[in-house]
Amino acid sequence: MKLLVINGPNLNMLGIREPEIYGAQNYAALCAYIKDAAAEAGASCEIYQSNHEGAIVDKIQEAYGSFDGIVINPAAYTHTSVAIADALSGVAIPTVEVHLSDVMQRESFRHHSFVAPIAKKTYMGLGFEGYKKAIRYLVKNEE
Ligand code: DQA
Repeated sequence: MKLLVINGPNLNMLGIREPEIYGAQNYAALCAYIKDAAAEAGASCEIYQSNHEGAIVDKIQEAYGSFDGIVINPAAYTHTSVAIADALSGVAIPTVEVHLSDVMQRESFRHHSFVAPIAKKTYMGLGFEGYKKAIRYLVKNEE
């Protein structure tokens, strides 16, 4: 199984950015964690990060026909981007949404997700582990 893991804006700043919310580990540590989780589940995975909405839309479109599952943390675009949600619906690749923090316990503008209705599952508030759970859900249907 081929997975595409997409991380949205500012996630490249992990470790520097609000460590009390997102943790002290940096983006390289997250990527290593994701690679290990995919290998452990028996899947291959490509990890992509962008701070640009259109670039994320392009990446989702390019995934059509070449990936079996998408794990996405759209970051701030979760709450604003119809374009990313439309791209995910358009390619119809099984998708799981992940957030490091528990967005439902934060500011009200973070409570709405445009991606949630098209995602098979959303994991939030579990830090890096949310990515592992998303991978295992897609590969093994494990909750
Ligand atoms: C986030 C939550 C979003 O509200 C925020 O804009 C992010 C990260 C998370 O992983 O907790 O950038 O998606």
